[in-house]
Amino acid sequence: MDLRITCIPGDGIGPEIVAEAKKVLEKAGEKYGFTPVFTDILMGGASIDAYGVPLTEEAVRTAKAADAVLMGSIGGNTATSPWYRLPPEKRPEAGLLKIRKELNLFANLRPALLYRELAGACPLKEEISRAGFDIMIMRELTGGLYFGERRTVVENGVRKAVDTLTYDENEIRRIAVKGFDIAMKRKKKVTSVDKANVLDSSRLWRAVVEEVAEDYPEVTLEHMLVDNCAMQLVKDPAQFDVILTENMFGDILSDEASMITGSIGMLASASLNDTKFGLYEPSHGSAPDIAGQDIANPIATVLSAAMMLRFSFDLDKAADAVEAAVKKVLQEGYRTADIMTEGHKQVGCREMGSLIAERV
Ligand code: IPM
Ligand code: MG
Repeated sequence: MDLRITCIPGDGIGPEIVAEAKKVLEKAGEKYGFTPVFTDILMGGASIDAYGVPLTEEAVRTAKAADAVLMGSIGGNTATSPWYRLPPEKRPEAGLLKIRKELNLFANLRPALLYRELAGACPLKEEISRAGFDIMIMRELTGGLYFGERRTVVENGVRKAVDTLTYDENEIRRIAVKGFDIAMKRKKKVTSVDKANVLDSSRLWRAVVEEVAEDYPEVTLEHMLVDNCAMQLVKDPAQFDVILTENMFGDILSDEASMITGSIGMLASASLNDTKFGLYEPSHGSAPDIAGQDIANPIATVLSAAMMLRFSFDLDKAADAVEAAVKKVLQEGYRTADIMTEGHKQVGCREMGSLIAERV
């Protein structure tokens, strides 16, 4: 069986980490009887350099024609890169937002899991990390502040910028349904995160989530304000199962959740639409400061590839094998620089990829 996978190596460490995920997918294919067929497209800064835009229509067509998309990361140093002197709609991030919208990837799953082996890299106190945690952040990805109308104007000599935050009930309902569906396969708890004490969009969010909850009597639903959630994540992360939230809150909370796993280099993600199609990418950025040095952590990308096998191709056994291989490598003491602690063996990006592939 051929798996048609469009790859977006992207910028910064992107090409390095995608190369390792490809290596692992190829090995998994040999063992589990499938052949990944990769087609690369450019996005972000790499596309700007080649075509003057962060994502071409041709690249969108190639992505749409595939069964799934595997992405590294895009973007550069916002202070120094010439890409950030372009108008906002021509910058690298605009390519990412465009592909999310074009492919209707409204559901972003970001699992934050504390590996026992990495407990030492977890910045929380031992008495908190001891309980472990396994959280699935379900982030709405094609609405809210990211896609609302925006403009910058000068009124009476005063510069003014406007961003708008809009959600309609259908957008909320479809992500809530995905959140509850996922909760049914996990510990059956949904924490819906909003700012209903201030925002109208959050009050609607809360109302619609409650309607959806009626169809899931087995799932426990609780509502939490986003500021409290930010606090609870470091105080008692073990209380969470599925965190269901809108685009901007999910962006922020998922970085926080990744950090308490020991490193942002560990957090995978899947962005899904209504079909089996998905875009899989690490939750972290392009880390331009360490690009090209073979020191990036490819694990988040490898784990994203595992999510692809599971969600887009129903290859659960192969996905389990990739996840187990990551665990094994950690158990054996191998660490990239970001998760390195005393008494372990530090390896580079390529070696980490090879070690995982060998253990699939
Ligand atoms: C993420 C990133 C993106 C986002 C940026 C690069 C636009 O931070 O995927 O979390 O904010 O969604
Ligand atoms: Mg982010």
